[in-house]
Amino acid sequence: KRRLFKTGPLFGKKAIVTSGPTHEPIDPVRYIANRSSGKQGHAIAAELAKLGCEVTLVSGPTRLEAPNGVKLVEIESARDMLVACQNALPADIAVCAAAVADWRVDNEAGQKLKKDGSGQIPELKLTENPDILATLSQAGDQRPKLVVGFAAETQNIREYASAKRIRKQCDWIVANDVSPSTGTFGGNENKVHVIARNQCEDWPTLSKKEVAKRLAAKIADYLKED
Ligand code: CTP
Ligand code: CA
Repeated sequence: KRRLFKTGPLFGKKAIVTSGPTHEPIDPVRYIANRSSGKQGHAIAAELAKLGCEVTLVSGPTRLEAPNGVKLVEIESARDMLVACQNALPADIAVCAAAVADWRVDNEAGQKLKKDGSGQIPELKLTENPDILATLSQAGDQRPKLVVGFAAETQNIREYASAKRIRKQCDWIVANDVSPSTGTFGGNENKVHVIARNQCEDWPTLSKKEVAKRLAAKIADYLKED
């Protein structure tokens, strides 16, 4: 397959980007999901590709089209997302923008759950999903040189996000304020803080596309020496 963007500061580099929600099955016809639109993750994949990067976008179900010049791998569950990301290794860059479900149903039914007439209500037992960002950040000699996570917070944004960065061992965390007063969740704008080991940049409210552009440029700048 011919590449669409054959030049740029990220030419010769490979990136994995996660985006969208995950769907966690309850039975063959039902699932647990969240309201992630995938807009930010898809925009990042698009902007990295425009800089010449070879991008694999691993995404849960969204209403968005595959960005130009990006390889889209469509998955449903967090477990599928982890396998798809591992299959896309090695990579120079990983950006985890997906809203991965923290839990899945442990007692997934093989057949559609039915009302049996007795008024018995099924109970869902949850179990924790794998953490894709933490797994990629701690992948040993397979670890991408630059691993970027996101953190949606409603309070103590910088403190919570910087604790998350250390816990997961990624290089940068893009923290966004999703408190209802900002009105950004699910919308086209984002107000983010980019947190690294010993610096924090506070970006103004920008379109998700503009956030993606700036982030792609910052990534290219970081990797320009190698
Ligand atoms: N993430 C991931 N896999 C998971 C959970 C989260 O890859 N199972 C990634 C997200 O894509 C994001 C980052 O981890 O880049 C932070 O996600 P977030 O939900 O903010 O953090 P959690 O560790 O799940 O903590 P909490 O939801 O309790 O705030
Ligand atoms: Ca979470």
